[in-house]
Amino acid sequence: MSFAPASTALHQVRIDLGDRSYAIAIGSGLLDAPATWQAMPAAQTALIVSNTTVAPLYAQRLAQALASRYRQVHQVVLPDGEVHKEWQTLNLVFDALLAKGCDRKTVLYALGGGVVGDMTGFAAACYMRGVPFVQVPTTLLAQVDSSVGGKTAINHPLGKNMVGAFYQPQLVVCDLDTLATLPARELSAGLAEIIKYGPIADLDFLDWIEANIDALLARKAGALAHAVRRSCEIKAWVVGQDEREAGLRAILNFGHTFGHAIESGLGYGQWLHGEAVGCGMVMALQLSQRLGLVDPAFVARVTALIARAGLPITGPKLGAERYLELMRVDKKAEAGEIRFVLIDGRGKASLRAAPDALVREVLAHCCP
Ligand code: NAD
Ligand code: GLY
Repeated sequence: MSFAPASTALHQVRIDLGDRSYAIAIGSGLLDAPATWQAMPAAQTALIVSNTTVAPLYAQRLAQALASRYRQVHQVVLPDGEVHKEWQTLNLVFDALLAKGCDRKTVLYALGGGVVGDMTGFAAACYMRGVPFVQVPTTLLAQVDSSVGGKTAINHPLGKNMVGAFYQPQLVVCDLDTLATLPARELSAGLAEIIKYGPIADLDFLDWIEANIDALLARKAGALAHAVRRSCEIKAWVVGQDEREAGLRAILNFGHTFGHAIESGLGYGQWLHGEAVGCGMVMALQLSQRLGLVDPAFVARVTALIARAGLPITGPKLGAERYLELMRVDKKAEAGEIRFVLIDGRGKASLRAAPDALVREVLAHCCP
């Protein structure tokens, strides 16, 4: 089954996954427009899952827009923060679903950033063995990455996103207007995941980001619309070929092996996910250069762009042994061997192992 919103969207990107295909609607004013939600199948109940920051800003408007589609629109408001992306918070969603008597046709609406989106998706995958859900991402990071592609998860103290499921939403609605209230630090975090798509897949997009980084930081509507659309197109293209990360999809984890080590090593929430990915990309570029896969000029160019986006390019001093220990828990590791997404020539990426000695060299260089 596939659901596409009516024509309120400025752009629509389609993700082709057979009977799990869906549309990503991108535009302004989508949250309030009844047409946005028209294609969703009829059900008695919807549950909006949000958090203490986003719910006061947008939940009422979404609830009103959904009121014509459902007899009851419930809400559950989770504590805000990466540190809450765990079992106890997830259980609040199940508590709400059961307390409200929600059946297996109930539709969950994830209203928030990647943390709310990942947890709501996982809750939807589990509740009564699977109920429909819709992503309504309100951070730049969630609009360009986490809401698309069906990765859902919670963290474990020993590793990031370690408990989860592949479970696709039925619709993604990116209302660009919601980005107006996003703190500047969160905007920069989202830029990390946008920049990611350039070196791994699309050098023209990398050129475009370089030319438009100031417009993106200034939240110019046209620039944001293009960045969200192109990012979603690239992600949809990758996920459409490799939904469950048998191979190609791993390239979307460029910067994430180092980045996840930063996040869990410092304690979740100290660095934002996008900040850790930004710095992780610098580390992965350095490793790629040391392996002779990419030239220093390209490494310097992408590193400069990451810095211009307001992201850290030097890492925290966790110690090389601790980094290595944390990275061995990464989902891409096989039999304890760490595998990195490396830039394999300009605009191409591949998954490779690297000698520990080189990784130590990179860490010494990037964590001065
Ligand atoms: P987040 O969900 O923590 O949101 C960042 C902050 O912004 C939060 O405090 C949130 O309450 C606030 N916020 C959200 N929307 C707002 C708005 N419109 N106005 C004001 N404040 C707003 O963080 P994130 O960067 O969106 O997502 C990071 C998470 O996404 C991580 O857990 C990461 O693992 C996950 N992720 C998942 C995927 C995937 O494919 N599933 C991909 C990338 C990242
Ligand atoms: N963010 C990485 C992925 O969706 O595969």
